[in-house]
Amino acid sequence: MKLLDARKDHYRRLAHEQGFRSRAAYKLKELNQSYRLIGPGFYVLDLGCAPGGWTQMAVKLAGNQGKVMGIDLSFVEDVTGAHIIRENIEDEHVIDEIMSYFGRKVNAVICDLSPKVSGNWSVDHAKQISLNYDCAKIMDKVLAHKGNAVFKVFDGKYSMEFKDYVKKKFARVSMTKPKASRKQSSELYHVCLGFIR
Ligand SMILES: C[S@@+](CC[C@H](N)C(=O)[O-])C[C@H]1O[C@@H](n2cnc3c(N)ncnc32)[C@H](O)[C@@H]1O
Repeated sequence: MKLLDARKDHYRRLAHEQGFRSRAAYKLKELNQSYRLIGPGFYVLDLGCAPGGWTQMAVKLAGNQGKVMGIDLSFVEDVTGAHIIRENIEDEHVIDEIMSYFGRKVNAVICDLSPKVSGNWSVDHAKQISLNYDCAKIMDKVLAHKGNAVFKVFDGKYSMEFKDYVKKKFARVSMTKPKASRKQSSELYHVCLGFIR
């Protein structure tokens, strides 16, 4: 077995053993270990949450005093400790649903969105980045001062432009690729700490 396959297998097995719905949960865990995006008591908004691995991990990280909401176009089985809604994040009215659930601004917005891929890389990349701008629009309205965010990015010609866009909004922005993310995938994560506006 190649090293890459072994690693993929490792996270899939771990997810199965530990009751997480996706191996992606370990990407969030790892990002949190390095950057402390989510702490106990945090209110967390998870955009593009199906099947729910990040939502499960966010519930764990935020603990009993925290509150977690997940949104996806697809149906998501209930996640204990989280509120899930089936919506399109491109529709601005979701902001009202978010604010009515939390009752105040949130401490972290976590975005792991992927469009339905067409196989045409430049189209998929452009669509994925466009979804991130939609997330940022929501984030502008719902993230508390000094809050944190993370955006999955399909790396390509618009990635740096998006990074520059979010850079103006946070005290610190780092680009990273967690070990749990397949090496051959072109996804990266922009980790954003300390929301300023
Ligand atoms: C890679 S999956 C997320 C995996 C998730 N973080 C986990 O740990 O299980 C990406 C998700 O983005 C969702 N998505 C794509 N476009 C969306 C949109 N406009 N509104 C809501 N969700 C969307 C897809 O339905 C898909 O479930």
